[in-house]
Amino acid sequence: MKVTVNTGSISFRLLEQSASTVAESTDRLFVAMLIVCGVMAITLALLVLWFSIRYRAGSDANRDRPPSHAGGLEAAWTIAPLLLFLGLFVWAAHDAVQARRLDQKALPVYVVGKQWMWRIQHSSGRQEINELHVPVAQPVALIMASQDVIHSFFIPAFRLKQDVVPGRFTELMFTATELGEFPVYCTEYCGSAHSAMLARVVVMRADEYSRWAGEHAAQRDETWQMGRASYERLGCASCHSASSHVKAPLLQGLYGRRVQFDDGSSTIADDQYLRESILQPRRRLVAGQPPIMPSFEGQLDEEELLALVAYLRSPGASGADIDDPRAPGSASR
Ligand code: CUA
Repeated sequence: MKVTVNTGSISFRLLEQSASTVAESTDRLFVAMLIVCGVMAITLALLVLWFSIRYRAGSDANRDRPPSHAGGLEAAWTIAPLLLFLGLFVWAAHDAVQARRLDQKALPVYVVGKQWMWRIQHSSGRQEINELHVPVAQPVALIMASQDVIHSFFIPAFRLKQDVVPGRFTELMFTATELGEFPVYCTEYCGSAHSAMLARVVVMRADEYSRWAGEHAAQRDETWQMGRASYERLGCASCHSASSHVKAPLLQGLYGRRVQFDDGSSTIADDQYLRESILQPRRRLVAGQPPIMPSFEGQLDEEELLALVAYLRSPGASGADIDDPRAPGSASR
């Protein structure tokens, strides 16, 4: 939606260019709220003005028969705006839930915020700094973590903003609708160079994106190697392999599968779950497993953690053995 006010030589844009599916619904809601609140404010201001002139001290207005409270007029002007604003609330809540719904088919892109840059890693393994390349008209899920303090990833043209918090993944879903470049701002004060923590989103055609993401195979192998190095350094295989006596859950092909917990609940083994299992393994226990896995909190930085999760993800897609060194090509969902 485009709302532009043109006053001679000065062009003033009421709304920033919109370039995502979320932006369109957000703008509709914003304009509706602006109209409702604007009409309300003007109506009330005019009534205040009119009443203060009509019933000013010394005016000849008839004050003999003030309207009664029982007439229903008062109830009407209380209940009608209440319903109107509750309607806006329901509309906004619906849009917010829609925008947050995780699309399992969305293209995952990993974002690490740190003082003072954004490090982006695509599921193809390609990495970039302060730039985020995405395909147009395809759902994208940003999976974000912070290396140090709280940052916030804000894409005004997409009308989306999400805090990036140390110690956990946060997610942001969108589908870009316009080709081009759009600025990204950090909107959480994160230190002296906070205002310089800028990036941009580059929206490309789908075929261009796949070509772009496929380049730099060296980076992909680097990520996979980094993940594999952590896997070996931390000794994951000593419990999580088929030959281990511990009989911990096998990691091979785990990604994307349903995991059953001993309290009866279950979840799909996604990035968030793998992260939680590495850092807080006893938070949710896999059914039938004793609580023996130690936490690896503090032993991996965010980049190593992302690489390890990427490494764990890789065999699930290809069916290859997790110890198979030929697996790097499979580092996608
Ligand atoms: Cu990062 Cu402000």
